[in-house]
Amino acid sequence: MRQAMAEARVGDDVIDRDPTVAELEARTAELVGQQAGLFMPSGSMSNLVAVMTQTGRGERFLAPRHAHVLSHELGTSAWIGGAIALELPWTRAPGVPSADDLAAVAAEESRPGAYYDLATRLVCLENTHNHGGGHYIPRSEAQDLYDVAHQAGWAVHLDGARLWHAAAAQSISPAEAAGPADSVSVCFSKGLGAPVGSMLCASRELIDRARRWRKALGGGLRQSGVLAAAALVALDQELPRIDQDRRRAQILAAALRRLGLEVAEPPTNIVLVAPDRLSTAGELALAWQEAGVGCMAMGPYVRLVTHRDIDDQILARGIELLTEGAARLRARRAD
Ligand SMILES: Cc1ncc(COP(=O)(O)O)c(C=O)c1O
Repeated sequence: MRQAMAEARVGDDVIDRDPTVAELEARTAELVGQQAGLFMPSGSMSNLVAVMTQTGRGERFLAPRHAHVLSHELGTSAWIGGAIALELPWTRAPGVPSADDLAAVAAEESRPGAYYDLATRLVCLENTHNHGGGHYIPRSEAQDLYDVAHQAGWAVHLDGARLWHAAAAQSISPAEAAGPADSVSVCFSKGLGAPVGSMLCASRELIDRARRWRKALGGGLRQSGVLAAAALVALDQELPRIDQDRRRAQILAAALRRLGLEVAEPPTNIVLVAPDRLSTAGELALAWQEAGVGCMAMGPYVRLVTHRDIDDQILARGIELLTEGAARLRARRAD
């Protein structure tokens, strides 16, 4: 990947485009079933630009509780984008609303209202859902969600930072996992191992408008081909093996259960661990970090993630370190 970055053909993507970025944009758009792509420095910027392109100031968007765009991006969709969020419940699975949840909002809005009533323009779905523990939206359910949204006249943005994992878990293509979204964002840095980068994909017309917002937010990048080259290697070399992450997450979950911890079966590459009654999520995460394992507390859980750098050997070593860390924490608590 470093070699590809060093050798990348570059241009000036702010002025007349960079050839390696153009290649990545075309390739990613095709992968997710959209017409065009726009390279972004981060998934957060992709989401914000998607909201800004598809809502106006004071208009509403819907998103499942704890969606990244709601809970983990400083609320920028509101204070920079001017959009107002309504949280959807996790009716179908953690992070996944039902078509009926959308239909209920649509029914409320279908009654003739006053000019000052809040109007919904967009639904932001997240596939897989980070805070929900990597749950994916099954393809048939995604279709129902899109149908209800589109019938209500709303656009749909899919935050597919980990769409690759959603596709692999269902043995379908990323385009099939994305479904008929109006915009889709994906990340090259999650699971795939590129250092930087996300892509917003949509129709050419939407991407032309999104390019203006990206520039306004400071995301116009010049010789960005060095970054796109890394993402191309990620697609070539890492995408075909991405389902290994799920297999390893399941091994990790089983090992942690043997330590007496409560761990749900990971649907993809995220493992959520409930701490035992002797500690909080923050304390358990700290004990594991001190033992040498990268992890974080997320809500009431500790989040562990498998990705391209976690092979079978490193996983086995990681499980040893987690076992030692948990034992040390329990010994300290028992004192
Ligand atoms: C589902 C989801 N969307 C968007 C993002 C934002 O990506 P970035 O960290 O590149 O801004 C993340 C980051 O973890 C994420 O999990």
